[in-house]
Amino acid sequence: MLKQEIEDGQSSLADPNFRADVLNGLAATPRAIPARWFYDRRGSELFEAITDLPEYYPTRTETALLHRVGPELGALAARNAAVVEFGSGSSTKTPILLRAIEPAAYVPIDISGDFLRQSARELSQAFPGLPVHPVEADFLRPVPLPVQVEGLPKLGFFPGSTIGNMNAWHAVDLLRAMREWLGEGARLLIGMDRVKSPDILVPAYDDAQGVTAAFNLNLLERINRELDGTIPVDAFRHRAIWNADAARIEMHLEALRDMRFEVEGRPFAMQAGETIHTENSHKYGPNGGRMLLRAGGWTPIAEWTDPQDWFALVLCEAQSIRRAP
Ligand code: AVI
Repeated sequence: MLKQEIEDGQSSLADPNFRADVLNGLAATPRAIPARWFYDRRGSELFEAITDLPEYYPTRTETALLHRVGPELGALAARNAAVVEFGSGSSTKTPILLRAIEPAAYVPIDISGDFLRQSARELSQAFPGLPVHPVEADFLRPVPLPVQVEGLPKLGFFPGSTIGNMNAWHAVDLLRAMREWLGEGARLLIGMDRVKSPDILVPAYDDAQGVTAAFNLNLLERINRELDGTIPVDAFRHRAIWNADAARIEMHLEALRDMRFEVEGRPFAMQAGETIHTENSHKYGPNGGRMLLRAGGWTPIAEWTDPQDWFALVLCEAQSIRRAP
């Protein structure tokens, strides 16, 4: 990259994948930008704030569930296991699991190096005797696990119903990649949000304080900041819609008036009422959830839900791979 390009502005420093996803997504019909781009620093802070909202039930429900089933998990988990967490977050859930099963090692995997190192440091302090081996990687593209955990039984941990932010075919690909990565005999503990009344679901994604709206709109701010955009952010509103056919909450950004703007010099025009689709959050019935896991190479062996059946934790075992002779 030329020095002049760097000095000319932030756009030259933007992630090329972000640029490609935004330019292609704004030009597509219907317009859509992948949800992974929500999580710049501001977006990650806003997501943390979402997890504390009274309307956003998933985090507190899953956390309470983990507390409740901890002893059972401890009894089911292999002695000497290595816990491998996918997308290691700043999670308050991780210590609950670590206390319950007392593993031999903890391997947090995250694409964001800063975040990963910080949470690894915090966990090392909280669990002084526990070896922590962070892996900076995109867990969609498996890399070898640290040699220190070779030979240990693996327990994958994928909480938060993050799987729900993927379409079924991506979710199956990811589960299969995890299966490949963790290997024969591995187990996986996964959080899956349940289908429920839109009266609960919609406010969870469109809260009264407007934190989720700010989280969604921050994507436009990020485009303006990093891709030299001129998007009139005030002329958009956040929408959360329950799509019953697809069993998912959809988040959109709706144009409130006709407008023109540029991103990296490329012109775009939108009409009032048109939307940019920014996120899907799929919800699962018990059968649908289990079928997805099986398609991804995992056999469910235990499942726990809260008393309202709003959220499920599923423990699965890696299916053995039968190769053709
Ligand atoms: C990260 N993911 C599981 C959240 C969800 O519920 O789908 C992201 C989120 N979007 C709006 N609120 C929370």
